[in-house]
Amino acid sequence: MQIDKKIAVIGAGNIGLAIVEGILMSKLFKPENIYVSRRRIQLIKYLTKEKVNISTDNSSVISNADIIIIAVKPHQFRKILQNNKVLFNKNKIIVSIVTGVNIENIQSIVGANIPIFRAMPNTAIKVCESMTCISCSNVLQNQKDEILQIFQHLGEAIYIQDELMDSATILASSGIAYALRYIRAAMQGGIEIGFDSDRSQLIVVQTVIGAAKLLQSDKNHPEREIDKVTTPRGITISGLNEMEHQGFSSALIKGLINSYTKIKKL
Ligand SMILES: NC(=O)c1ccc[n+]([C@@H]2O[C@H](COP(=O)([O-])OP(=O)(O)OC[C@H]3O[C@@H](n4cnc5c(N)ncnc54)[C@H](OP(=O)(O)O)[C@@H]3O)[C@@H](O)[C@H]2O)c1
Repeated sequence: MQIDKKIAVIGAGNIGLAIVEGILMSKLFKPENIYVSRRRIQLIKYLTKEKVNISTDNSSVISNADIIIIAVKPHQFRKILQNNKVLFNKNKIIVSIVTGVNIENIQSIVGANIPIFRAMPNTAIKVCESMTCISCSNVLQNQKDEILQIFQHLGEAIYIQDELMDSATILASSGIAYALRYIRAAMQGGIEIGFDSDRSQLIVVQTVIGAAKLLQSDKNHPEREIDKVTTPRGITISGLNEMEHQGFSSALIKGLINSYTKIKKL
């Protein structure tokens, strides 16, 4: 399936470029219908080999596209909206990936009649495995369906209330860093007990994929799956309990709340 529309990504940095690569991988849009902008254009020249359009001119990118994903830092975002507000209309959808700028803030710049989406993906969007939470305002049902469809092709996607966007940022967008840190720590343990780094990574990564897929498929609570591998007086429960004595769950929850407290002060 392909969407016969033009999509733009303004700000091809870490997350913007991951989105472009995910869109290319998903084949949801023809490459010639993808428009990408950043100031240091030489860093994305390679995209032209795939027939993607690149530019430093945000106005022309916005004029060309039907769906405009904006993935820049908050202060850059406000400037881009201010400079181009006359170009937006009811049929030109803004999808903001920008942290800490809510829908009301966006409407105060471009006007209340413009369809606005906020989407909070994570960097796994590059391989079409993002968790993306979306909120919206002033949109038609067909626009809502279309945006959900796009992000569902780039992983899993759900609609949430805009007021939960900061929480989504922590749990899914920062969350990928917390998950990666677990993987790194487990790898280091693996090296201590006999594996070289490459094999340790292979084993830990596949184990995490397996754990996640089990939960995705059976929808069981994680503790139920843990019960299946913890024999009374066994080796797994003794390791797990030692991790808890050292504050494993507590450290994770405190870390999440720390990030959340910080995002609320932005
Ligand atoms: N990183 C994540 O995992 C993630 C996840 C969810 C949301 N976010 C949010 O997404 C936004 C971008 O984050 P990031 O980590 O991708 O930052 P980043 O790597 O700094 O990317 C921002 C990009 O915007 C480009 N840019 C700046 N001014 C521009 C302009 N006037 N026109 C066009 N492009 C411009 C910059 O490239 P040039 O300097 O070449 O112009 C830069 O590559 C932030 O608001 C962040 O909170 C990030």
